[in-house]
Amino acid sequence: MAKTYISHWRCPSNIAIVKYWGKKENQIPCNASLSLTLSESYTELNARLEEKTNDDEISLTYFFEGERNAAFEAKFLKFLNKHQVNFPFLKTHHLVLESSNSFPHSTGIASSASAFGALALVLCDFYEQTQGKTISDNWQQTASHFARLGSGSACRSIFPAWAQWGQIDADKASSNEYAIPITEVHDNFKIMHDAVLIVDDEPKKVSSTAGHALMNKHAYAEARFVQANQRVAELREILKSGDLDAFVSLTESEALTLHAMMMTSADYYLLMRPNTISVIEKIFAFREQSKVPICFTLDAGPNIHLLYPEVYKTEVENFIRHELSDLVKSIIFDRVGQGPKKLT
Ligand code: PMV
Repeated sequence: MAKTYISHWRCPSNIAIVKYWGKKENQIPCNASLSLTLSESYTELNARLEEKTNDDEISLTYFFEGERNAAFEAKFLKFLNKHQVNFPFLKTHHLVLESSNSFPHSTGIASSASAFGALALVLCDFYEQTQGKTISDNWQQTASHFARLGSGSACRSIFPAWAQWGQIDADKASSNEYAIPITEVHDNFKIMHDAVLIVDDEPKKVSSTAGHALMNKHAYAEARFVQANQRVAELREILKSGDLDAFVSLTESEALTLHAMMMTSADYYLLMRPNTISVIEKIFAFREQSKVPICFTLDAGPNIHLLYPEVYKTEVENFIRHELSDLVKSIIFDRVGQGPKKLT
């Protein structure tokens, strides 16, 4: 009887504090980045591997939220074809993927990070089930490596809480090929909240792929890459020391630098919306007056991630309710997460 294998994983998204922006061949980043893995924003991927008789081509059926999705299917098929030597079972089995996200589209939560993270985990799991041995001595590192090949920032989602991707001189264990977990973290940063303030839920006008490409001939590229690497090293020290004020400055400067890169590209563009600025100004004013160390970051989009440590939760959530809710379409209350989970 034809054999079927099952693998079911939940993989969270992540939000970068130091941003990856600019890449080389094979998803090698031009600079290091450091992110926070989320908890409530995740992809669940239910995968089935069914033995088949012909083994000439990789075959995949892909459902997104219950419906066949040709665009995603083509994207995943391209990825599987490129990496089939690493996953020999792909030739001899038909793959069925059923995927769903816990968060809506176009909300500034990176769905490609959680989706490719989940796919990499499922593939590593199937490797183990079909070959009867683990894919490597460090399966998280291997899963992170394959996640990166799908979507750069996905490699950081394999780890709980704080993760770094990209080589920096100060840490010989860091790599451009996969992310590493950052575990030396002060109590101040152990329970970090992220309220995602959706000011605009239209699909992105410029894809991240196009944005990364604009860094190739960017006038400020080299300085930016040096700065980002230094900031990863600085952020590692901040996370260790618990310095919330330093965290606020670095985080906001990073967000604005990312958008400054977009605004100063040869094909310049602007992703912030009027309410993005209004919310930022409210955050500045609230911080000034309350001395609560909240800060914002931005992804490649108009929506705001408002970050605050657990001790300020009540105060900040009151501020959000009273002063920000009229400026935004919706809010997703997220927080630091424990990383991917295998589901049964
Ligand atoms: O992983 P990509 O190709 O979707 O690029 C992500 C880029 C940013 O989200 C803007 C920054 C980052 O480091 O996640």
